[in-house]
Amino acid sequence: MTALLEVEDLRVSYGKIEAVKGISFRVDEGQVVTLIGTNGAGKTTTLRTLSGLLKPTGGRISFDGHPLAGVPAHKIVALGLAHSPEGRHIFPRLTITENLQLGAFLRNDKEGIARDIQRAYDLFPILGERRKQAAGTLSGGEQQMLAMGRALMSRPKLLMLDEPSMGLSPIMMQKIMETIAELRSTGTTILLVEQNAQAALSLADRGHVMEIGKVVLSGTGPDLLHDESVRKAYLGED
Ligand SMILES: Nc1ncnc2c1ncn2[C@@H]1O[C@H](COP(=O)(O)OP(=O)(O)OP(=O)(O)O)[C@@H](O)[C@H]1O
Ligand SMILES: [Mg+2]
Repeated sequence: MTALLEVEDLRVSYGKIEAVKGISFRVDEGQVVTLIGTNGAGKTTTLRTLSGLLKPTGGRISFDGHPLAGVPAHKIVALGLAHSPEGRHIFPRLTITENLQLGAFLRNDKEGIARDIQRAYDLFPILGERRKQAAGTLSGGEQQMLAMGRALMSRPKLLMLDEPSMGLSPIMMQKIMETIAELRSTGTTILLVEQNAQAALSLADRGHVMEIGKVVLSGTGPDLLHDESVRKAYLGED
Protein backbone atom coordinates (compact mmCIF):
# COMPACT_ATOMS: atom_id res chain seq x y z
CA MET A 1 0.00 0.00 0.00
CA THR A 2 1.33 3.48 -0.78
CA ALA A 3 1.46 5.85 2.12
CA LEU A 4 -0.76 8.93 2.15
CA LEU A 5 1.80 10.56 4.43
CA GLU A 6 5.40 9.50 4.67
CA VAL A 7 7.80 11.15 7.09
CA GLU A 8 11.46 10.17 6.88
CA ASP A 9 14.19 11.23 9.28
CA LEU A 10 12.40 14.52 10.05
CA ARG A 11 14.36 17.07 12.04
CA VAL A 12 13.07 20.38 13.42
CA SER A 13 14.91 22.93 15.54
CA TYR A 14 14.06 26.07 17.45
CA GLY A 15 17.30 28.00 17.10
CA LYS A 16 20.00 25.75 18.49
CA ILE A 17 17.58 23.40 20.19
CA GLU A 18 16.60 20.37 18.16
CA ALA A 19 13.04 19.47 19.17
CA VAL A 20 12.50 16.70 16.62
CA LYS A 21 15.56 14.52 16.12
CA GLY A 22 15.09 12.40 13.03
CA ILE A 23 11.69 10.70 13.24
CA SER A 24 10.10 8.45 10.63
CA PHE A 25 6.54 7.17 10.31
CA ARG A 26 3.81 6.75 7.75
CA VAL A 27 0.06 7.04 7.56
CA ASP A 28 -1.82 4.92 5.05
CA GLU A 29 -5.20 5.87 3.67
CA GLY A 30 -8.06 5.03 6.05
CA GLN A 31 -5.79 4.56 9.04
CA VAL A 32 -5.78 6.23 12.41
CA VAL A 33 -2.18 6.71 13.49
CA THR A 34 -1.32 8.17 16.87
CA LEU A 35 1.75 9.89 18.27
CA ILE A 36 1.87 9.64 22.03
CA GLY A 37 4.43 10.84 24.53
CA THR A 38 4.97 13.11 27.48
CA ASN A 39 5.27 16.92 27.59
CA GLY A 40 7.91 18.32 25.31
CA ALA A 41 8.39 15.13 23.28
CA GLY A 42 8.00 17.03 20.00
CA LYS A 43 4.48 15.99 19.00
CA THR A 44 3.11 19.48 18.35
CA THR A 45 6.35 20.50 16.64
CA THR A 46 5.89 17.54 14.28
CA LEU A 47 2.30 18.47 13.39
CA ARG A 48 3.16 22.15 12.93
CA THR A 49 5.97 21.14 10.57
CA LEU A 50 3.66 18.89 8.55
CA SER A 51 1.26 21.85 8.25
CA GLY A 52 4.00 24.12 6.92
CA LEU A 53 4.02 26.37 10.00
CA LEU A 54 7.58 25.37 10.90
CA LYS A 55 10.44 24.61 8.55
CA PRO A 56 12.21 21.28 8.92
CA THR A 57 15.98 21.34 9.24
CA GLY A 58 16.27 17.89 7.71
CA GLY A 59 14.46 14.87 6.35
CA ARG A 60 11.63 14.34 3.90
CA ILE A 61 7.86 14.67 4.04
CA SER A 62 5.74 13.27 1.26
CA PHE A 63 1.98 13.80 1.25
CA ASP A 64 -0.26 12.24 -1.37
CA GLY A 65 2.72 12.03 -3.70
CA HIS A 66 3.88 15.63 -3.15
CA PRO A 67 7.07 16.57 -1.30
CA LEU A 68 6.04 19.16 1.31
CA ALA A 69 9.41 20.84 1.82
CA GLY A 70 9.08 24.56 1.20
CA VAL A 71 5.34 24.40 0.45
CA PRO A 72 3.46 27.26 2.20
CA ALA A 73 0.79 26.37 4.78
CA HIS A 74 -2.24 27.40 2.69
CA LYS A 75 -1.07 25.23 -0.21
CA ILE A 76 -0.67 22.29 2.16
CA VAL A 77 -4.31 22.75 3.20
CA ALA A 78 -5.21 22.81 -0.49
CA LEU A 79 -3.38 19.51 -0.98
CA GLY A 80 -5.71 17.99 1.61
CA LEU A 81 -3.96 18.18 4.95
CA ALA A 82 -5.97 19.83 7.75
CA HIS A 83 -4.84 20.59 11.28
CA SER A 84 -6.92 21.03 14.41
CA PRO A 85 -4.30 22.70 16.61
CA GLU A 86 -3.40 22.20 20.25
CA GLY A 87 -5.42 24.69 22.27
CA ARG A 88 -8.12 24.80 19.55
CA HIS A 89 -7.62 28.43 18.46
CA ILE A 90 -11.20 29.08 17.50
CA PHE A 91 -12.22 32.69 16.83
CA PRO A 92 -14.13 33.57 20.02
CA ARG A 93 -15.97 36.64 18.73
CA LEU A 94 -17.18 35.02 15.55
CA THR A 95 -20.23 32.79 15.51
CA ILE A 96 -20.01 29.04 15.23
CA THR A 97 -21.17 29.19 11.62
CA GLU A 98 -18.55 31.84 10.80
CA ASN A 99 -15.82 29.73 12.39
CA LEU A 100 -16.87 26.79 10.23
CA GLN A 101 -16.96 28.98 7.13
CA LEU A 102 -13.37 30.04 7.81
CA GLY A 103 -12.38 26.38 7.64
CA ALA A 104 -13.54 26.46 4.01
CA PHE A 105 -11.50 29.56 3.14
CA LEU A 106 -9.97 27.94 0.07
CA ARG A 107 -13.28 26.78 -1.38
CA ASN A 108 -15.82 28.72 -3.37
CA ASP A 109 -18.50 26.07 -3.93
CA LYS A 110 -21.23 27.70 -1.87
CA GLU A 111 -23.60 24.76 -1.95
CA GLY A 112 -20.91 22.26 -1.03
CA ILE A 113 -19.83 24.47 1.86
CA ALA A 114 -23.42 24.73 3.11
CA ARG A 115 -23.74 20.94 2.91
CA ASP A 116 -20.52 20.43 4.84
CA ILE A 117 -21.58 22.93 7.53
CA GLN A 118 -24.74 20.85 7.88
CA ARG A 119 -22.55 17.72 8.15
CA ALA A 120 -20.62 19.36 11.00
CA TYR A 121 -23.95 20.03 12.73
CA ASP A 122 -24.97 16.40 12.19
CA LEU A 123 -21.68 15.25 13.69
CA PHE A 124 -21.94 17.71 16.60
CA PRO A 125 -25.62 18.64 17.12
CA ILE A 126 -24.76 21.13 19.88
CA LEU A 127 -22.92 23.25 17.29
CA GLY A 128 -26.07 23.38 15.17
CA GLU A 129 -28.19 24.42 18.13
CA ARG A 130 -25.80 27.25 18.96
CA ARG A 131 -24.84 28.19 15.41
CA LYS A 132 -25.52 31.92 15.84
CA GLN A 133 -23.73 32.16 19.18
CA ALA A 134 -20.22 33.60 19.58
CA ALA A 135 -17.79 30.68 19.69
CA GLY A 136 -16.17 32.09 22.85
CA THR A 137 -19.33 31.22 24.80
CA LEU A 138 -18.88 27.49 24.13
CA SER A 139 -17.46 25.13 26.75
CA GLY A 140 -13.98 23.67 26.25
CA GLY A 141 -15.36 20.43 24.86
CA GLU A 142 -17.70 22.27 22.51
CA GLN A 143 -14.80 24.45 21.32
CA GLN A 144 -12.90 21.24 20.58
CA MET A 145 -15.84 20.03 18.50
CA LEU A 146 -15.79 23.33 16.64
CA ALA A 147 -12.05 23.08 15.98
CA MET A 148 -12.54 19.58 14.57
CA GLY A 149 -15.55 20.66 12.52
CA ARG A 150 -13.59 23.61 11.17
CA ALA A 151 -10.67 21.38 10.14
CA LEU A 152 -13.08 19.06 8.32
CA MET A 153 -14.45 22.00 6.29
CA SER A 154 -11.47 21.81 3.92
CA ARG A 155 -12.54 18.22 3.07
CA PRO A 156 -9.12 16.92 4.05
CA LYS A 157 -7.54 13.67 2.92
CA LEU A 158 -5.74 13.65 6.27
CA LEU A 159 -7.05 15.19 9.48
CA MET A 160 -4.44 15.99 12.14
CA LEU A 161 -5.73 16.42 15.68
CA ASP A 162 -3.43 17.80 18.38
CA GLU A 163 -4.57 16.74 21.85
CA PRO A 164 -8.31 16.87 21.27
CA SER A 165 -8.99 15.54 24.79
CA MET A 166 -6.86 18.15 26.58
CA GLY A 167 -8.59 19.66 29.60
CA LEU A 168 -11.91 17.93 28.99
CA SER A 169 -14.17 16.17 31.46
CA PRO A 170 -14.24 12.36 31.15
CA ILE A 171 -17.68 12.50 29.54
CA MET A 172 -16.65 15.12 27.01
CA MET A 173 -13.46 13.22 26.28
CA GLN A 174 -15.51 10.09 25.64
CA LYS A 175 -17.68 12.04 23.21
CA ILE A 176 -14.66 13.38 21.31
CA MET A 177 -13.11 9.90 21.10
CA GLU A 178 -16.42 8.46 19.86
CA THR A 179 -16.49 11.11 17.16
CA ILE A 180 -12.96 10.20 16.08
CA ALA A 181 -14.08 6.56 15.86
CA GLU A 182 -17.11 7.66 13.83
CA LEU A 183 -14.93 9.68 11.43
CA ARG A 184 -12.66 6.70 11.07
CA SER A 185 -15.57 4.41 10.23
CA THR A 186 -16.52 6.75 7.38
CA GLY A 187 -12.99 6.42 5.98
CA THR A 188 -11.35 9.61 7.30
CA THR A 189 -7.60 9.21 7.70
CA ILE A 190 -6.41 10.67 11.00
CA LEU A 191 -3.09 11.52 12.63
CA LEU A 192 -3.90 11.86 16.31
CA VAL A 193 -1.58 13.39 18.88
CA GLU A 194 -2.57 12.56 22.44
CA GLN A 195 -1.23 12.49 25.96
CA ASN A 196 -4.12 10.20 26.83
CA ALA A 197 -2.37 7.08 25.60
CA GLN A 198 -5.13 4.69 26.62
CA ALA A 199 -7.78 6.50 24.62
CA ALA A 200 -5.55 7.08 21.61
CA LEU A 201 -4.15 3.54 21.38
CA SER A 202 -7.62 2.05 21.77
CA LEU A 203 -8.62 3.79 18.54
CA ALA A 204 -5.42 3.61 16.56
CA ASP A 205 -4.29 1.21 13.85
CA ARG A 206 -0.71 2.17 14.61
CA GLY A 207 1.02 4.18 17.29
CA HIS A 208 4.42 5.73 17.84
CA VAL A 209 5.79 6.64 21.25
CA MET A 210 7.85 9.84 21.23
CA GLU A 211 10.39 10.84 23.86
CA ILE A 212 12.51 13.98 23.66
CA GLY A 213 12.35 14.30 19.91
CA LYS A 214 12.62 10.66 18.95
CA VAL A 215 10.30 7.78 18.21
CA VAL A 216 11.31 5.17 20.78
CA LEU A 217 8.66 2.55 20.11
CA SER A 218 6.22 1.77 17.28
CA GLY A 219 3.54 -0.83 16.86
CA THR A 220 -0.11 -1.53 16.29
CA GLY A 221 -2.55 0.15 18.69
CA PRO A 222 -3.35 -3.14 20.49
CA ASP A 223 0.36 -4.13 20.70
CA LEU A 224 1.34 -0.84 22.32
CA LEU A 225 -1.68 -0.94 24.59
CA HIS A 226 -0.42 -4.25 25.95
CA ASP A 227 3.29 -3.36 25.94
CA GLU A 228 4.70 -3.45 29.43
CA SER A 229 6.93 -0.38 29.08
CA VAL A 230 4.06 1.64 27.61
CA ARG A 231 1.75 0.54 30.41
CA LYS A 232 4.30 1.58 33.00
CA ALA A 233 5.26 4.91 31.47
CA TYR A 234 1.98 6.10 29.98
CA LEU A 235 -0.88 4.18 31.48
CA GLY A 236 0.07 4.73 35.11
CA GLU A 237 0.77 1.12 36.00
CA ASP A 238 3.66 -0.18 38.01
N1 LIG B 1 8.34 28.16 20.03
C1 LIG B 1 9.28 27.44 20.64
N2 LIG B 1 10.51 27.94 20.88
C2 LIG B 1 11.48 27.21 21.49
N3 LIG B 1 11.30 25.95 21.90
C3 LIG B 1 10.09 25.39 21.70
C4 LIG B 1 9.02 26.11 21.07
N4 LIG B 1 7.94 25.30 21.01
C5 LIG B 1 8.32 24.13 21.58
N5 LIG B 1 9.61 24.19 21.99
C6 LIG B 1 10.37 23.11 22.64
O1 LIG B 1 10.41 22.00 21.75
C7 LIG B 1 10.23 20.78 22.46
C8 LIG B 1 9.04 20.02 21.89
O2 LIG B 1 7.84 20.74 22.17
P1 LIG B 1 6.43 20.32 21.60
O3 LIG B 1 5.48 21.41 21.92
O4 LIG B 1 6.56 19.89 20.20
O5 LIG B 1 6.11 19.03 22.50
P2 LIG B 1 4.78 18.21 22.69
O6 LIG B 1 5.15 16.78 22.56
O7 LIG B 1 3.71 18.72 21.82
O8 LIG B 1 4.44 18.49 24.22
P3 LIG B 1 3.01 18.68 24.96
O9 LIG B 1 2.52 17.30 25.23
O10 LIG B 1 3.35 19.41 26.20
O11 LIG B 1 2.09 19.45 24.06
C9 LIG B 1 10.09 21.15 23.93
O12 LIG B 1 11.34 21.00 24.53
C10 LIG B 1 9.67 22.60 23.90
O13 LIG B 1 10.13 23.28 25.03
MG1 LIG C 1 1.89 19.52 22.18
